[in-house]
Amino acid sequence: MTQAFRGRHFLDLADFSREEILYFLEVALDLKKRWVLGERLGILGGKIVALLFEKPSLRTRVSFEVAVRQLGGECFYLGPQEVGLGKREAVKDVALVLGRMVDGIVIRTFAHETVLEMARYAGVPVINGLSDLHHPCQVLGDLLTVQEKKGTLNVKIVFVGDGNNVCHSWIVAAARLGLSLTVCTPERYRPSWEIWNWAQREAQKSRAEIVYEVDPRKAVLGADVVYTDVWASMGKEQELEERLSFFWPYQVNNELLALASPEVIVMHCMPAHRGQEITDEVIDGAHSVVIDEAENRLHAQKAILSLLL
Ligand code: CP
Ligand code: NVA
Repeated sequence: MTQAFRGRHFLDLADFSREEILYFLEVALDLKKRWVLGERLGILGGKIVALLFEKPSLRTRVSFEVAVRQLGGECFYLGPQEVGLGKREAVKDVALVLGRMVDGIVIRTFAHETVLEMARYAGVPVINGLSDLHHPCQVLGDLLTVQEKKGTLNVKIVFVGDGNNVCHSWIVAAARLGLSLTVCTPERYRPSWEIWNWAQREAQKSRAEIVYEVDPRKAVLGADVVYTDVWASMGKEQELEERLSFFWPYQVNNELLALASPEVIVMHCMPAHRGQEITDEVIDGAHSVVIDEAENRLHAQKAILSLLL
């Protein structure tokens, strides 16, 4: 199995089969256990990874930096001012040059097309650390969290909020793995139809149940996992005022959570806007697993790096 991953990109979970996604999780869990036991692994053997970020980040940047170092590699960070991706220099040229010098590239950018172009020309594995369309590393870590907390992925998962990049990666994951996912957004902020229609076709093969429900109170009924994310993603902050009027009924608060399973876990990719999509009492409450979820980014990223590089 391991050989099948070498040299590939990690751009979208749709690029991987059910078995391959499950293998990432298996490796992540194994690496997590070994780290806890104090084993130090030199899997990356001095390989060098560039982190090319056009948007701010805490979890993705730090988890990749720590993961690379803990696996015996080296990395460096390039922020928006340093590279001027597509402005100072064409994306293609940045990709061609970086690819001659590093062993892997993690990119966080706006247009998903930039991620694809980087992958087309880099000649080394490119990892999508978030684009406007997808956040696959996040959802890989999230799957690990659901598996650990629930002992299975076959539970009722409800995504409440904006049909954004994280929501898209959840839809793709559900379609590939055959999961039960309810997507609950205001009508106007539904996820991409292209991704939705693709997922419905895939769901026929994987037996996934991916449904849309506009009413959050109906959506969360009996939910085992309630997931939310910000109402205005990075780059869309200026839309927040306008969005608020649509999103208030979608706030994950104690009243909404009371309709879910008594053992529900609450997830959020973070950063969270406390008092907007999630209240303090929920994110700090007994059902919240957001900090374990954030930690699992590190373990999931290690699986990606060790398999691709
Ligand atoms: N969840 C996540 O990707 O967080 P950062 O934006 O801080 O990397
Ligand atoms: N949807 C959010 C996720 C941040 C990790 C954003 O794109 O800003």
